[in-house]
Amino acid sequence: MNVLYLSPGYPPESPKFTRGLAEAGARVIGLGDQSESALPEVARKNLAMYVQCGGFGNEDAILAQVRDLANKVRIHQVECLWEPLMVLAARLREMLGLAGMTVDETVPFRDKETMKQVLDRAGIRVPHHARAHTVAEVEAAIERIGYPAIVKPIAGAGSADTHRVNDAADLKRVLDLTRHVPHASVEEFIEGEEFTFDTVCANGEVLFYNICAYRPRPLISRQLLWVSPQTVALKDPDVPYLEGGKQLGFAVLKAMNFRTGFTHMEWHRKADGEAVFGEIAARPPGAYTVDIMNFASDTDLFRGWAEAALRGRLHEPVTRRYNCASVFKRAQGQGRIQRIEGLGRLMSECGPHVCVVDLLAVGAQRRDPMQTLISDGMIIVRHAELDRCIEIADRFGTELNLYAG
Ligand SMILES: Nc1ncnc2c1ncn2[C@@H]1O[C@H](COP(=O)(O)OP(=O)(O)OP(=O)(O)O)[C@@H](O)[C@H]1O
Ligand SMILES: [Mg+2]
Repeated sequence: MNVLYLSPGYPPESPKFTRGLAEAGARVIGLGDQSESALPEVARKNLAMYVQCGGFGNEDAILAQVRDLANKVRIHQVECLWEPLMVLAARLREMLGLAGMTVDETVPFRDKETMKQVLDRAGIRVPHHARAHTVAEVEAAIERIGYPAIVKPIAGAGSADTHRVNDAADLKRVLDLTRHVPHASVEEFIEGEEFTFDTVCANGEVLFYNICAYRPRPLISRQLLWVSPQTVALKDPDVPYLEGGKQLGFAVLKAMNFRTGFTHMEWHRKADGEAVFGEIAARPPGAYTVDIMNFASDTDLFRGWAEAALRGRLHEPVTRRYNCASVFKRAQGQGRIQRIEGLGRLMSECGPHVCVVDLLAVGAQRRDPMQTLISDGMIIVRHAELDRCIEIADRFGTELNLYAG
């Protein structure tokens, strides 16, 4: 089985999925914009072949390059798990006459307005919404939807350019901040908690699902840089508290006609218990969320996804044993990391529950927290009891501190 896999070296999870494909028995042909020598080791050693393209910006050039390649090597399947390349992957499938998501099936996962129109038709609760291209259209949409509202790019990621708008004065500020966004989605602001619903599916059947809690909501994490944001993969996603979101997740997959692969959905839980859809992507979540799902169940979903994509099943049953939290640290101050405080004590007191400690080293230039959720470091902890897991994660949030200067 020759699988053309787009961008094996990036994002950071991609080499691990390359490994999963190889372990599941595929001959993986990587197509990427990096030079072969720049690929992460894990990607390189799991590729049977690597083809470098001139850049992902020119899709027509890539289609031509892959057409040439297909004359020399038979390609059986095209896989892609990186959001910006999803439509390109679908175009390649269509060109090569291969099974898998088509362009028409992919677009509703990329365009947040089309997505909500599909879900509206299926009677699924989404925030009231409208597409807007001009200032006048944004104003008209808010007039109809009311305050507070959300203005965000149609094809956004990482909460970039996403703004809450509280009132007319606030709207002026947000319009100034989003002038460079050509297509915006305007939404009713949903007050509540935010969760994920993530799945691995094959042939329309859900083989695995997971719910994570975001602490706090992503938009708040982005605004309050002193917070150490957490994502908590829950050991028990079947509790009544989450039932509405789980049902919403299954209904959304059906409405979107999703068949095979990873999905990542976000949803809101209002105080009255109502579950409201946020967004869905036809790819895994980023920011080490697949790793926390793995640690929660002592499994390997990088391989599991590959098995589902190639054979329509997982290679092993998944049993959730732990709640597992990632904690992202943002240094105080700018410049280089000067010192790290609190780690020794936390490790001596919580060590057995810590799965990963991955912090920037002293002397390293700190990262821009607006560009990356991973920020200046990450800790993964797990515990069978949710309260204890959160308590330990919160200790890493507050007692571990990185200082830059
Ligand atoms: N209608 C809404 N009501 C309340 N909060 C919202 C709404 N839309 C977006 N948000 C907030 O903004 C965040 C980012 O929005 P969204 O997930 O749609 O964009 P994104 O840029 O694709 O995000 P990411 O790539 O980080 O998942 C959400 O996680 C949520 O906290
Ligand atoms: Mg989101």
